[in-house]
Amino acid sequence: MTAVDTNIDMNRIPAHVAIIMDGNGRWAEKRKLPRVMGHNAGMKAMKEIVKRASVLGIKHLTVYAFSTENWKRTEEEVKGIFGLLVKYVDNELKELDENNVKVNILGDFSVIPGDALERVNTAIERTKDNDGLVFNIALNYGSRLEMIQAVREIGEKVKKGEIAPEDVDEDLISGCLMTGHLGIPDPDLLIRTSGEIRISNFLMWQIAYSEMIFTDVLWPDFTPEKFEEAIVEFQSRDRRFGGRNK
Ligand code: IPE
Ligand code: IPE
Ligand code: MG
Repeated sequence: MTAVDTNIDMNRIPAHVAIIMDGNGRWAEKRKLPRVMGHNAGMKAMKEIVKRASVLGIKHLTVYAFSTENWKRTEEEVKGIFGLLVKYVDNELKELDENNVKVNILGDFSVIPGDALERVNTAIERTKDNDGLVFNIALNYGSRLEMIQAVREIGEKVKKGEIAPEDVDEDLISGCLMTGHLGIPDPDLLIRTSGEIRISNFLMWQIAYSEMIFTDVLWPDFTPEKFEEAIVEFQSRDRRFGGRNK
């Protein structure tokens, strides 16, 4: 493993980094390879970023692995993606656990293919008491789905008389989101690879005050060094949250 970038201020590491891992398909197309090979290369890149996040002392890393809209892809591609998830857990769970990583899943993962569901449940169970890096994988995740579920949950509370409509505030809504249920704070930094400048239904409530970095690098080419460059860039930003620092 290469040494940590000396430009990083280790006292100001972002607590939560979220990543939209985009560009696997284009990476494969450029090489005239099938798309699933791009996803395989993307999985390898993710493996390295998880390790580096641990080394840097990042508390939460959230990756967008499969959106509620990604079912629009061909059956072959969808199968390929979930097959890689199975491979990832089979190959990496032991090491993740040894590195004290806790795995969480965000999204309605109950509907993913059975073998992938089994691996995901095993990963959650085996790492549930770990207190190192919290690695959140967004799988069949969509911000709008999450908001729908939160509104329903709040509606039920009102219906049961547990709260009044005027009790609905930011903290209540945050707490009813999937991230809230898992105790995940809002991201400090959001990174999207592949050159697309959009959010694609990812953590829309939670990124209200996140710093955003968009890079043209395709996800399989996103190395720990590029990850650290993004953190250096994050550390140069002046976060004001609507107030004034001077
Ligand atoms: C991101 O890569 C991975 C998933 C969406 C599952 P893409 O497959 O979207 O890659 P591009 O955007 O087509 O290059
Ligand atoms: C976002 O990428 C979802 C993931 C990275 C899992 P997409 O490739 O699905 O997003 P769009 O279609 O370019 O907006
Ligand atoms: Mg894409």
